[in-house]
Amino acid sequence: MFLKIVYNLGGSFSQRRKGYAKDAKKGMPRLKIAVIAGDGVGPEVIGGAKRVLERVGERHAIEFGFEDLDWGAEYYFRHGRMMPPSAVEILGACDAILLGAVGHPDIPDHVTLNGLLLPIRRGFDLYANVRPAVLYAGVESPLAGRKAGDIDLVVVRENTEGEYAPVGGFLYHQQPQEVAIQTAVFTRRGIERVVRFAFELAQRRNKKKRVTSITKSNAQAFGMVLWDRVFASVAEQFPDIETETLLVDAAAMNFVRRPESFDVVVASNLFGDILSDLSAMVTGSIGLAPSANLDPTRRHPSMFEPVHGSAPDIAGKGIANPLAAILSAGLMLEHLGQSGAAGAVERAVTAVLAEGQVRTPDLGGDSSTRQVSEAVAGRIG
Ligand SMILES: NC(=O)c1ccc[n+]([C@@H]2O[C@H](COP(=O)([O-])OP(=O)(O)OC[C@H]3O[C@@H](n4cnc5c(N)ncnc54)[C@H](O)[C@@H]3O)[C@@H](O)[C@H]2O)c1
Repeated sequence: MFLKIVYNLGGSFSQRRKGYAKDAKKGMPRLKIAVIAGDGVGPEVIGGAKRVLERVGERHAIEFGFEDLDWGAEYYFRHGRMMPPSAVEILGACDAILLGAVGHPDIPDHVTLNGLLLPIRRGFDLYANVRPAVLYAGVESPLAGRKAGDIDLVVVRENTEGEYAPVGGFLYHQQPQEVAIQTAVFTRRGIERVVRFAFELAQRRNKKKRVTSITKSNAQAFGMVLWDRVFASVAEQFPDIETETLLVDAAAMNFVRRPESFDVVVASNLFGDILSDLSAMVTGSIGLAPSANLDPTRRHPSMFEPVHGSAPDIAGKGIANPLAAILSAGLMLEHLGQSGAAGAVERAVTAVLAEGQVRTPDLGGDSSTRQVSEAVAGRIG
């Protein structure tokens, strides 16, 4: 179902990585994957995703070279930074990045986020954050009366600028008269490319063929007004796609009231972040929501991660749902041109959910992370 999210704008994966053909042994693709398991439940769910990928490798003749990177909170405690200065070069030599989560109760969240995730997203210009939300068979939505397949939408979040641009500062820092300035940055180029991505995704999905744009341009009369104007001008180039524009407050309401009406939703960095937690919850659990941080031009490695964070409340208990991380690995396979393997991952997850025998507590079961991961690995065809 998540197939076709990948954008092929600037050449194929094999064109990006010149050595790819030489790496292939007896026609077997070799994929070098940087793995940042990170903090909290990150290593638990990434362990599950790697287990499934190993199985995929056996079944689909793909050789995975995992480069495990111990970056995150523990690295911060030792080195005073979340990742080494050479991080971007290390990651740049890989075909893709698989990330668990970052965040630790003893480190301010803005330090973990700005020290690892955001620099990678911006450093590689991963401008399209794609977050599918599907109500699977065997999973109950907290919304009454919704059945499998009723909810099938994708939030496309602008991932490099907007409200998360590191522009601002403190004046009179930590004095009684302290002032904080936080500036959102919206550029015509930044909006245009992510909106175009959303329209092309709606065409490739070929489902409801509708793109909904979310802003708050009644109150934010500069950046979001520019967003509305750019959205309207890009929309003119896609006459086959229906459009809708919503203010973010109405969008929050309608994600609950009529989630089945959405197809592709495009939003700014902040609004897309918030709405995709909501879309995850209406499809049963945040533990089911995967995401892809894509560089659609394929100049850089793209990054794949569950939508959820490090979940310190359940970390170490072995009960985190690994399916979001496993589905993220599926998105990664699709991006790397392994559509058959990607489809096998999604079919295995779909089967395990539909059977309903093995599931973690967030979905009402009592299985462990490991048991769910093994169940999915065992269903890889
Ligand atoms: N991409 C990221 O790395 C990312 C994203 C969001 C939050 N964070 C960080 O994670 C930390 C915790 O943040 P939070 O509590 O706001 O969000 P969270 O997503 O970690 O947790 C929210 C709730 O969802 C539950 N949950 C999350 N993942 C789950 C899973 N796989 N299975 C079952 N239940 C799951 C948690 O137990 C918790 O009740 C913070 O430090 C935050 O900065 C990181």
